[in-house]
Amino acid sequence: MDRKNLVIVGGGSTYTLGIVMSLIEEKENFPLQSLTLYDIDEARQEKIAKAAAIMLQEHYSELEEFTYTTDKANAFSNIDAAFIQIRTGGLAMRELDEQIPIKHGVIGQETSGAGGMAYGLRSINDMIELVRDIRHYSKDAWILNYTNPAAIVGLALKKEFPDDQRLLNICDMPIAIMKSYADLLEKDIWELVPEYFGLNHFGWFSKIFDKEGNDLTGELKTKITSGDFIPTDKEIANDASWIQTFRKARQMLIDFPEFLPNTYLQYYLYPDELAKKDSPDNTRARQVINGREKQVHELCDHIIAQQTTGDMTIESDIHGVYMIRAAASLLFNLNETFIVMVENDGIISNLPTDALVEVPAILTKNGPKAFSVGAIPTFYKGIIENQHASEKLVIEAYYEKSYNKLLQALTLNRTIVHAPTAKAILDDLIEVNKDYWPELQ
Ligand code: G6P
Ligand code: MN
Repeated sequence: MDRKNLVIVGGGSTYTLGIVMSLIEEKENFPLQSLTLYDIDEARQEKIAKAAAIMLQEHYSELEEFTYTTDKANAFSNIDAAFIQIRTGGLAMRELDEQIPIKHGVIGQETSGAGGMAYGLRSINDMIELVRDIRHYSKDAWILNYTNPAAIVGLALKKEFPDDQRLLNICDMPIAIMKSYADLLEKDIWELVPEYFGLNHFGWFSKIFDKEGNDLTGELKTKITSGDFIPTDKEIANDASWIQTFRKARQMLIDFPEFLPNTYLQYYLYPDELAKKDSPDNTRARQVINGREKQVHELCDHIIAQQTTGDMTIESDIHGVYMIRAAASLLFNLNETFIVMVENDGIISNLPTDALVEVPAILTKNGPKAFSVGAIPTFYKGIIENQHASEKLVIEAYYEKSYNKLLQALTLNRTIVHAPTAKAILDDLIEVNKDYWPELQ
C-alpha cells in the first residue's frame, strides 16, 4: 500500500484528537505519509495540534510529516484526502440554535428542526468555499465530509458541484447505533451487514445480517424491546443525554416495530414531549462545552505540560475509525460496504431522484456504488418526502435569499408545524445570524 497525505479541516474540533488516535490504531489499514490539520481558529487548533504532535511522535513513527496551519495553500496542496468537520459559528452559535426554538415551545436541536436549518444556512457558504479551495490545490483528492447538518450541507454541495465524483457525505450515527446492536448480539461490529434507508438523521435499519447471511433482525428487536438499549461506543457510552436518546430509540421500536430507527427520529416523532423536557440554560451545546470540550482541552494541556502521552492508552473510537476505513476503501479500492449519503437517482424507487439518501454502498476508487433499496412502505415514503421537501426548501431559500421559502421549510418541519410559531422562530433566528446568513428578501 502506498502512503497517503491527509488533511483534517476543522483541526481545532473536539473530535480531532480522537481521530488522531484512530489514525494511529488504523495505521495498517490507512497508512499515512503526512497529516495536516487546518483551521481558521489558530489558537483553538494549536492546543489540539501540539498534543497531537507528541502523540504522533510517540506512536506513529512511520508518519513522515505532521503540520498544522491556517493557510489553505499549505493545507490543501498535494493531498490525497480531506476530512472536513467544521462548525460555522462554533458552539456559541449552536447554543443559540438550540435555545431560540425552546423559547417558542419547540425542540432546540443541532441538526433537526429550526436549529438544524439555522446551522445549515450558516454552513453552506463555508462548505462551498472549502470544496472550491481544495479542488483548486488538489483536484483529485477525496473529500469526506462530516460537517453538519449533513443532510442540508450535502444537498447544497450536490447542487453546487453536480459533477464532482470525489465528494462524499458521511455520518457516524448509523455505525454508532450498530455498535450497540453488535454488543447486544455479542458479535464484532464489522461482522454485521446492515440494510438501511432514509435521509441523514432520518432513516431506519430494515435488516441486520451477519457475514454468513443469517438474518439477525428478529433476535435483535427482541433483545432491544425486552431489555435495555444504551450506547456502547466509548465516545458516548457514559453520556447521560445519549443514554436517554438510545432508550428513546427503544421506545420508538416498541411503537413502530417494523424497522429499527435512527436515534434522531425521536425529535420528529415525539417533538412535544421532548420540547417540554428542554431547558434553555442546559442545552446540548452547554453540555458539550462543559463536558467533551473541557475534557479534551484538559487532556491536551496535560500532554503538552508533560511532553509525553505517558501511560495513556491510545484508543480508537467508532467516529474516527468509520471515516478512516471509508477513506481507505475509496483510496485503495477495497470495495467495502459503508452507510453513506448518495443522490437517490432510483435507489429508493418511490422517492424523488434528487433526494440525498443514506444507504449502504460499496466504496470503490470510482466512488460509491449503492445497493438498490426498491420501494419503501407508505409511512416512510410520506414522512421522508416531507423531510426532504423541508430540507430542499432551505437550499432554495439560500440560493434565492427567500424569506418565504425558509418560512415554508420551517412550517413543513414536523418539529414545528404551526406557521405562526415558524414565523416567530425565523424572525429571532434572522436576528442572531446576521453575520452568517444571506440577507433574506
Ligand atoms: C452524532 C451525529 C453527529 C452529531 C453528533 C452530536 O455523532 O452523527 O452528526 O454532530 O452526534 O453529538 P454531541 O455529543 O455533540 O451532541
Ligand atoms: Mn451525523
